[in-house]
Amino acid sequence: MKQEPTEAARRAAVGIPVVHGREDVNSVISGMTLDLDDVTLSYTGTPVVRRLSLDVRPGEILVLTGASGCGKSTVLRALAGLLVPDSGEVRADGKPVTGTDRDRAVVFQDNALLPWRTVRSNIGLALSLRGEPRAGRREAADRWIEEVGLTGFGDYLPKSLSGGMRQRVQLARGSPERHAR
Ligand SMILES: Nc1ncnc2c1ncn2[C@@H]1O[C@H](COP(=O)(O)OP(=O)(O)OP(=O)(O)O)[C@@H](O)[C@H]1O
Ligand SMILES: [Mg+2]
Repeated sequence: MKQEPTEAARRAAVGIPVVHGREDVNSVISGMTLDLDDVTLSYTGTPVVRRLSLDVRPGEILVLTGASGCGKSTVLRALAGLLVPDSGEVRADGKPVTGTDRDRAVVFQDNALLPWRTVRSNIGLALSLRGEPRAGRREAADRWIEEVGLTGFGDYLPKSLSGGMRQRVQLARGSPERHAR
């Protein structure tokens, strides 16, 4: 006989934390609602996220997935109030988000690159510190740029890369000896 799932199982299935061991096993951890209403986000005019709408209920755990550079951190910046939407509205507990607030925090992706150096120059510096002769450094850096999937981004500064892209530059910086032959 097919059994209906319990309320707790239903909540767990949709990612709502369930507090066990209390009288009301369906108690939900308190939290705020977050709404994105038809939001478009950009940095330099070209939209990174177009017309996104989503609601997060109190206590709900929402996971955004997608390819590196598709705009996940950009959405988090908008929710934190660090990036003003081109259009649409971000709301926390029903109130428009106009800036940062103690109620909303973001844990940023690690960034250990020199911000004033380009991707190629950040990798080149690591090669230099490892004793790679100046002559072959640019080529070696370019091989690494290709290897970590950043072809075309060699002249970018870290601030214009996504978090995952920055981490891949760090990967290239951290393991240059493979190409240092
Ligand atoms: N400060 C910025 N200035 C200009 N462009 C940016 C900036 N930050 C991110 N971008 C661009 O916006 C796009 C989305 O970046 P975002 O950081 O949101 O990606 P992501 O989905 O979090 O990627 P990852 O999985 O690699 O962390 C990328 O194409 C990136 O180059
Ligand atoms: Mg990111």
